[in-house]
Amino acid sequence: MAQKKKFIIGNWKMNPESTRLATGIFKSIQKGTADLSKIHTVICPPYVYLEALARLQTSTKGTQKKQKGKKKVAAQPEPVVLGAQNLNPEPLGARTGEISGEFLKQFNVKYVIIGHSERRDLGETDAVVNTKILAALGWKFKTILCIGEKVRDDDGHYFAFIKNQLEQALMGVKKEQLSSLVIAYEPVWTIGATAAMTPPLVHEMTIFIRKTLFDMYKTRTLSTPILYGGSVDPSNAQEILQQGSADGLLIGRQSLDPAGFVSIATIANTLS
Ligand code: PGA
Repeated sequence: MAQKKKFIIGNWKMNPESTRLATGIFKSIQKGTADLSKIHTVICPPYVYLEALARLQTSTKGTQKKQKGKKKVAAQPEPVVLGAQNLNPEPLGARTGEISGEFLKQFNVKYVIIGHSERRDLGETDAVVNTKILAALGWKFKTILCIGEKVRDDDGHYFAFIKNQLEQALMGVKKEQLSSLVIAYEPVWTIGATAAMTPPLVHEMTIFIRKTLFDMYKTRTLSTPILYGGSVDPSNAQEILQQGSADGLLIGRQSLDPAGFVSIATIANTLS
């Protein structure tokens, strides 16, 4: 069976500090991943850079179209796709400072991250995450649900925590919507840290999440990729993808460093 394409997703968080830097990083990532046909590459910048980056996507469309027109012999490289880091689930209204998912479409946004631990730290509850997941799926975004325990205990209570996060976030999500969902498992203690989780522990958790989804939906859920995130870099990416059985990576700091990000993408491309 052909291996599925891996997802290499960059979350720029509240970086970089100018449009000039954002377009520079994005262009380098576009260039460095242009020939990689076995991955999906997604960049999630701050909202204010979406318009400038969407314009860069349009300027590379010509080449992509030509490739599409070729005889279908093998997987073709895909353009770098844009994602958002959050959305407001209401289409319009009195929500000062908020950005509706409806607005994101005009910037060609295809993915949205929901429930990142940094947003949960700002007060986003499981109920809010659930509302946003339902809205994002309703708008037909590829919806990246972030889950992850803050701490680990010796009795394995974190398994129940993860199960509960999944059940709460996916309340009301239908079986048919699972193919638009991406799960990003990010143990909070590895985000912005010095080391990632070890591949055997990633493997254990990808199996646990897969089993939990099976129990919830009573069906195989292989169309839902399970990603790992937390201190991913070029030195640990291969092990996490291979031994950890992750379907892709959600990358913070290294996604602002085009060389590092492209080398992770290149590693993933050789494994898919
Ligand atoms: P990091 O962030 O790669 O900088 O650890 C990961 C994330 O928050 O998604």
